[in-house]
Amino acid sequence: MSTTFTPPPSFSIPTSRLHISYLEPNNPTHSAFVHHLWNTDDFIQAEGPTGLDTPEKAAKFIATRVQSDYNRNKHGQMLVSLKPYPDASLAESKMIGMVSLMKGEPPNAYTQPDVGYTILPEESGKGYATEAGIGLIEYARRELGVEGVFGFCRVDAARSRRVLEKIGLEFRGERNLRVFGGARSAVYALPGMGGDLTVYGIDD
Ligand SMILES: CC(C)(COP(=O)(O)OP(=O)(O)OC[C@H]1O[C@@H](n2cnc3c(N)ncnc32)[C@H](O)[C@@H]1OP(=O)(O)O)[C@@H](O)C(=O)NCCC(=O)NCCS
Repeated sequence: MSTTFTPPPSFSIPTSRLHISYLEPNNPTHSAFVHHLWNTDDFIQAEGPTGLDTPEKAAKFIATRVQSDYNRNKHGQMLVSLKPYPDASLAESKMIGMVSLMKGEPPNAYTQPDVGYTILPEESGKGYATEAGIGLIEYARRELGVEGVFGFCRVDAARSRRVLEKIGLEFRGERNLRVFGGARSAVYALPGMGGDLTVYGIDD
C-alpha cells in the first residue's frame, strides 16, 4: 500500500515571478480555484469539459486523483501562484493557474511524465505557462529523479505547442496516443530522449 504524501503547506518551488505548490485535500480555496480555472471558456475550448462542474467535485478530485499521483510520483497537478513582489511568500501570492507532470494511471501509466499547464485567461500571454513548466521540470529533474519529459497536445493547439517549444522540448511528430483514447496528438520530448515511445510505456 502506498503511503500518503503530505508536504508541508508552506512548501513551494519558487521561480522568478511564481510559486509552484501542491494542491491540498480539504483546502476549500484550492478546490474553488480548480473549479473556476477548469471551467473558463478558454480551458473548455482547449480541453473540453472535465466534469468538475462544482467545487465539491473539484475537492473530491484533489483528494483522490491528485493525491494518488502525489503518493506514487511526488508530482502531478500543481498550483501556480503569482508573486506580488519578488521576495513574496507563497501565502502572499495569488493563484493564477496550474502546471503538471503526469505519468498516467495504472494500468496505463508511463515511465517518464508529460508536462501540462493552464493559466487564467486574464493572466495569459505573459510567459507564465513557460516559466512554470521550466520551473517544475528543473525541480523534478534535480530533486525527484525525473530523467525524461514529454509534451502532448492537440495538433491544432498552436498556443500550447509554442509553450512546449519555449520550455525546450523537441517536436517528435504526430501520433494517435492510446493514453488519450487514440486521439491524434503532437508529441514533444526533452532533447536526448529516444523516438521510440514504447520504451517509455506509451504505445500508439
Ligand atoms: C495555453 C496556455 C497555457 C498558455 O499560457 P500563457 O501563460 O499565455 O503562455 P506563455 O505566455 O508562456 O506563452 C504563450 C506563447 O504562445 C504564443 N501564442 C499565443 N497565441 C498563439 C497562437 N494562436 N498561435 C501561436 N502562438 C500563440 C504567444 O505569443 C507566446 O509565445 P511568445 O512568447 O513566443 O510570443 C493558456 O492560454 C491556457 O491555459 N489555455 C487554456 C488551457 C490549455 O490550452 N492548456 C494546454 C493544454 S495542452
